[in-house]
Amino acid sequence: MKITIITLFPELFKGVFDFGPIRIAKNKGLVSIDFLDLKDFAKTPKDVDDYPYGGGPGMVIKPEPVKKSILRAGKGYKILTTPKGKKFNQKMANALAQKDHLIIFCGRYKGIDERVRELFDLEVSIGDYVLSGGEIPAMVIVDAVVRLLEGATSDINSVLTDSFQGFILSEPQYTRPGVFEGKHVPSVLLSGNHKEIARYKRKMALKETLLRRPDLLLKAELMEEDYKLLIEILKEARNEQHNERD
Ligand code: ADE
Repeated sequence: MKITIITLFPELFKGVFDFGPIRIAKNKGLVSIDFLDLKDFAKTPKDVDDYPYGGGPGMVIKPEPVKKSILRAGKGYKILTTPKGKKFNQKMANALAQKDHLIIFCGRYKGIDERVRELFDLEVSIGDYVLSGGEIPAMVIVDAVVRLLEGATSDINSVLTDSFQGFILSEPQYTRPGVFEGKHVPSVLLSGNHKEIARYKRKMALKETLLRRPDLLLKAELMEEDYKLLIEILKEARNEQHNERD
């Protein structure tokens, strides 16, 4: 996969792609990441943005540098980062991981001139809050996408069992020591009974989702066994409440 990032601040990206799965993916040649400096596509570096017609606060990125930089980036799937965009999620990351070439244009200021919005295939927001620019959103998108590329993580199963793959949050995790400040790791995880362990993990994942993000359960693909586990979880929670009251 090739990723081209168009930004006013390529320096902001120094270092962020040099660790973890992105570094591994780059070293293995699974991904190459290039930068285009938007200032290079303006008549002068100061000529990137201008005041909005009709007045109002902030500056607008001019259409010419947007068009020129997008043309230079070549053929590819063109993404504009903007708080007005479609909300980024795991499903979108999975879809973007299938593309050969992603071109990510980092918006800034009040946004880009309306007349060049049509150049983009997709407008993406990383959440309902306003950042100073699209660079951090671009980093978020690249990280979420590149770690999905086969070979970027040592264990593809780790990626497949991530929270949000399948809309079920991952179960609580434990590692050594077995007892920390008097708190024990759930004994079933030490039992060596693989079937029991798998059932316990699924149950705890469902419980985590029910307690933290019940909205996701409506989207999740659940099996017959999951419904049984959910009933168990609800019964146990009710019993606990009763015991607390008594
Ligand atoms: N630019 C500024 N805020 C943003 C957001 N939340 N998502 C994407 N791009 C942005």
